[in-house]
Amino acid sequence: MNSWEKQLETNIAEVLFDEAALSQRVREIAQQINADYQALDIDELVVVGVLRGSVVFMSDLIRQLQLPLTIDFIAISSYAKGTHTSGMVRILKDIGAPITDKHVLVIEDIVDSGLTMQHLFALLQARAPRSLKLCTLLDKPSRRQVDITPDYRGFEIPDVFVVGYGLDFADQYRQLPYIGTLKPEAYQ
Ligand code: IMP
Repeated sequence: MNSWEKQLETNIAEVLFDEAALSQRVREIAQQINADYQALDIDELVVVGVLRGSVVFMSDLIRQLQLPLTIDFIAISSYAKGTHTSGMVRILKDIGAPITDKHVLVIEDIVDSGLTMQHLFALLQARAPRSLKLCTLLDKPSRRQVDITPDYRGFEIPDVFVVGYGLDFADQYRQLPYIGTLKPEAYQ
């Protein structure tokens, strides 16, 4: 067993969603998004990925979208300490183009307390997009502190800390093709 395999064996408790479950669910979400925006007959959907957690999900999702779209990215810092967020949002890298009068779909990895998305949405809404929706792969509604309901979501999960498929702990584990829970001793 090499050191990476040892690290996984020591720190990953269980696989919640394997590659097949993720790709199936991504296809289903894409079908909903396709149906909703095709019905509006839009000229352009601006898909905005929230760096860095959304990149794996977003790259799989956009390949299933049959819509005229452009992609952009925003990097925000939520001043997260350990596994919890303080909800304060600071833009580290802004999107590259104005979104005024555009249809915007924000792609996030996980909505937990909802504070990060509440701040980001206030910030983007102030730029007067034509529409602004949220698509998150994971949702932990039991931890919600503000009233945010994603327009599209992959899976609802309980209050556990998960990594993989873009999600990290201390910037690690993003490359895992599955989503797994981290053993508490790995982050406490
Ligand atoms: P919120 O502001 O509490 O909704 O936090 C959202 C952010 O916290 C996400 O974008 C993630 O970066 C991080 N986060 C929350 N829960 C998890 C988790 O279980 N695994 C990895 N990151 C998480």
